[in-house]
Amino acid sequence: MTQLSGSPDVPDMGRRQFMNLLMVGTGAGAVLGMLYPVINYFIPPSKGGSGGGVTAKDALGNDIGVTEFLSTHNPGDHVLAQGLKGDPTYIIVQEDKSIASFGLNAVCTHLGCVVPWNANENKFMCPCHGSQYDSEGKVVRGPAPLSLALVHASVEDDKVSFTPWTETDFRTGEAPWWA
Ligand code: FES
Repeated sequence: MTQLSGSPDVPDMGRRQFMNLLMVGTGAGAVLGMLYPVINYFIPPSKGGSGGGVTAKDALGNDIGVTEFLSTHNPGDHVLAQGLKGDPTYIIVQEDKSIASFGLNAVCTHLGCVVPWNANENKFMCPCHGSQYDSEGKVVRGPAPLSLALVHASVEDDKVSFTPWTETDFRTGEAPWWA
């Protein structure tokens, strides 16, 4: 007699447990799905951010390869590249055809025009109000009040790497005004 009421219950219990498991599983999946971006946010990226440096890029945004760069440039050249924070920054080719260990931020310290290099005059001459800077970016004529900002330039894996310059300005012997 107990079979009449008991036997139909067995598959019912099984189904209920199955449904419960399904709902728990679905819920857990939904929670994990929601947590994924949160967890991901707290995991630091695996690369980049090495000391605030960037790889110098050309006008098209491509990394500048040093070997190719030096094959097409001459000693004394001052060549614009994209530097830290995207600032226009000069790479300088030295007399021994190596890359100088410093680069120059091309933004005029007067009112912010990008200062072109004038090879004939061997200096930077700002077209906006006539400020001039020598070949190392030291201001030699106003109204610009300060020299061009320095960055460190180094060669790594055939690429030019710019990093912030926080030490004494070797041109003035003073603390860097831009740091
Ligand atoms: Fe260069 Fe004024 S912005 S001299």
